[in-house]
Amino acid sequence: MKKQLLIAGWCILLSTLGATGQVTLQHLLTENLVNPLGINVTATPRFSWQLASSQRNVQQAAWEIKVTAGKTVAWNSGKITSNQSVQVPYAGSALQPATKYSWQVRVWDTSGHVTPWSALASFQTALATPADWKAQWITPGFTEDAADRPAILYRKSFTLPKKVRTATAYLTAHGMYEAQINGKRVGDAYLTPGWTSYNKRLQYQAYDVTPLLVNGPNAIGVTVGNGWYRGYLAWSGNKNSWGSDAALLMQLVITYTDGSTKNFITDSTWRTSTGPIRYDEIYHGETVDTRLEKKGWDSTGFNDAEWSGVQTADFSKEVLVSTYNEPVKKHETFKPIKVLTTPDGKTVLDFGQNLVGWVMVKAKGNSGDSIVIKHAEVLDKYGNFYTENLRAAKATATYILDGKEERTLEPHFTFFGFRYILVEGYPGEINPDNFTAVALYSDMQPTGSFTCSQPLLNQLQHNIQWGQRGNFLDVPTDCPQRDERLGWTGDAQAFSRTATFNFGVNNFFAKWLKDVAADQKADGSVPYVIPNVLGPNAGGSTGWADVCTILPWNMYLAYGDKRILEDQYNSMKAWVGYMQTQSKNDLWQTGFHFGDWLFYRPFDDNDGKAAVTDKYLIAQCFYAHSTQLLVNAAKQLGKTEDAATYGELLQKIKAAFVKEYLTPNGRLVSGTQTAYVLALQFDMLPEALRAQAADRLVQNIKDYRNHLTTGFLGTPYLCHVLNRFGYTDIAYNLLLQETYPSWLYPVKMGATTIWERWDGQKPDSTFQTPGMNSFNHYAYGAIGDWMYRVIAGLDTYEDGPGYKHIKIQPHPGGNLTNAAATLQTYYGTVSSGWTINGTDITLDAEIPANTTADIYLPASSESTITESGIALSAQKDVQVTTTSDDQYVVIKAGSGKYHFVISARK
Ligand code: BGC
Repeated sequence: MKKQLLIAGWCILLSTLGATGQVTLQHLLTENLVNPLGINVTATPRFSWQLASSQRNVQQAAWEIKVTAGKTVAWNSGKITSNQSVQVPYAGSALQPATKYSWQVRVWDTSGHVTPWSALASFQTALATPADWKAQWITPGFTEDAADRPAILYRKSFTLPKKVRTATAYLTAHGMYEAQINGKRVGDAYLTPGWTSYNKRLQYQAYDVTPLLVNGPNAIGVTVGNGWYRGYLAWSGNKNSWGSDAALLMQLVITYTDGSTKNFITDSTWRTSTGPIRYDEIYHGETVDTRLEKKGWDSTGFNDAEWSGVQTADFSKEVLVSTYNEPVKKHETFKPIKVLTTPDGKTVLDFGQNLVGWVMVKAKGNSGDSIVIKHAEVLDKYGNFYTENLRAAKATATYILDGKEERTLEPHFTFFGFRYILVEGYPGEINPDNFTAVALYSDMQPTGSFTCSQPLLNQLQHNIQWGQRGNFLDVPTDCPQRDERLGWTGDAQAFSRTATFNFGVNNFFAKWLKDVAADQKADGSVPYVIPNVLGPNAGGSTGWADVCTILPWNMYLAYGDKRILEDQYNSMKAWVGYMQTQSKNDLWQTGFHFGDWLFYRPFDDNDGKAAVTDKYLIAQCFYAHSTQLLVNAAKQLGKTEDAATYGELLQKIKAAFVKEYLTPNGRLVSGTQTAYVLALQFDMLPEALRAQAADRLVQNIKDYRNHLTTGFLGTPYLCHVLNRFGYTDIAYNLLLQETYPSWLYPVKMGATTIWERWDGQKPDSTFQTPGMNSFNHYAYGAIGDWMYRVIAGLDTYEDGPGYKHIKIQPHPGGNLTNAAATLQTYYGTVSSGWTINGTDITLDAEIPANTTADIYLPASSESTITESGIALSAQKDVQVTTTSDDQYVVIKAGSGKYHFVISARK
């Protein structure tokens, strides 16, 4: 009763405090993107905006949106009473394909003030149906060199008789493409059209090419490399995963200033040849022979009489989808920090950071000089260049010079995971200035930061973020360097929550999840890797396949994106259905499973405390977890019948677990950290047996002298479970452990990314087995989520996902004297940072407009707390609700920046 009164009082407080100052609107997004091109017209675009104000407790009470296409009003919503400011669906007249729309919004706050109309934002729709594609697929009219498969050049000249008002190029390929118009690059995206399950979903990109065109003669040139479509992928010489052609499809839609329109399309009139790119493979690299350049081939006036014609092909257009995620772009650049001559006499450049991308090389030499650049992540114990862990990947860029002017060379249709390069054949002295490494990754917005007083943890955070950069290259990959680089589902689910803190990954994962669903088998089994290149039977592993439930739910939590739940719901249900059919008496004990992949092994004979966890015990836990997430999704989507049905199933799964894997006294048949972690995290145990199970987990950790032994499946939840059961101190011990297995051991060894294995490189600098030893594998970086949510205490509640209802609950500990996290949410900046000053602790928090927060202040009594110098009891901007467990005073706050001081902390 008391609580209800408090909350009612809080609501009144929010509405009466309302903003008196000016509220402005900023950061307008359509489908989570700034002014996107190529929005799917049938999917009802959604709009988001941020309210900005220097006042506290600003809440939106109503909004109004106007959408226009030229002079036509497509939607005038009128004033809608609602506090929704994120992902508001368009509800105007039917959207037209290939059309640019502008929109703006104004809002009323809870004290009745209306903002001025926002600045204009825009979005442009995609081609709607296959019939809107007038272009034809084209392939080379010559017989390709089947061994090396040089990249294909396609070209076309055409004349524009009138002045162009707008021009949009829609482009895709079987392979990877790069396009030029009149000698200038189209867009700044790389490795396009990106990677999807091409036989079901092939993305095309839309580019505004208006500035590239001229009145009169024009020319287009497009190079198509092998890419994921037909290049080598996975193992045993596997290539042509989706086809053996290098086809191109392009439609240029032009609107002249007089309003008339014209399409220029790929068709039988295009010309084709090969050029300087003699070889391009994702794993093996690229060979560019600049002597074979066809100067001016992508401009007007080039004589293509010698070139071949093209063949038109009737490849599917049904599979075409407009790109939904951010494309791969160039990001940070690095200069070598050292030029080394290794003990075995090689010239090696060290860029100081393990990154994914390539090196741009400036060079001038004689015709025929060949510069060979090899890539490696590490040097061996002697200081020599080490590539054994790349397995069969040659990871080599070769440039053959034409003897003309100095130029900068780079590859096009490959990428490398490296910190070091080995350079051979460079003409003249190696000058570090001539070498620039550039990181390529999906153009996700950086959203999060975590810093604290412990430099090793800051480096760990750096490594987690670089692991994410390197492995978010259109799909979430396991690793970026060896002959693998696949969308491993287990890795992605393990890291997904952490990923949402560091970068905006809503669209990135929404796109990939569509491929998860597309490649899911009819029986509900989900492949190990997406896009699936490992064959129809490579699927159904516990903890891997569960990506199809875990990821949508994590995206819903992090972004409040209900559409992901809607879109993925059938896929979630199908996977749970699969596990049901595999189970007997609700117990799932069949099939192949990777288990707690790469858990730590050395003490396996340690008095029965081996770290090997029964794979079927793990399967039962994830069966329950996926079922729970399906129930959650069903509830959010109003599917009450499903929620009830699967709720019952969940109880049976847990009962079966208890019967099979738990002794009456509460010991699990696998006594491992992972077994206890999963059983506790997913609430598999009866309430009464949970505390003692947590004690057993702690005892196990102590037996390993404060070391973890968990693999891919246990690690993400380990510290969360400890924290939940009151062992935050033990979680800190694990986190701050510097000897392996631990998160900080690689940091101490100089890592700049997260390693695949806890002991990838031993203290004596020898390596783990080269067959499985990546130095850029993000899975163990899943601890990042704990650092944000628990150490800094920045979290969202499920009842207001996407940080509409924020939870701030710092957990000082581990001898840290400060920690702070910030997150750019769709509402604006959320931050939480604490500092210990003697017996005082300060907490600074920022809560964006149109959200509310519960802030947990680490104090046993309200009387020890001030906010901005005012005693908490006198501070009218916030509302004290409860004092929890003598550990925290809990307050409710609206938007604003808050500075709390808690004195005489216990
Ligand atoms: C990958 C992993 C993946 C695993 C599954 C490895 O080769 O690199 O990260 O999850 O296989 O077994």
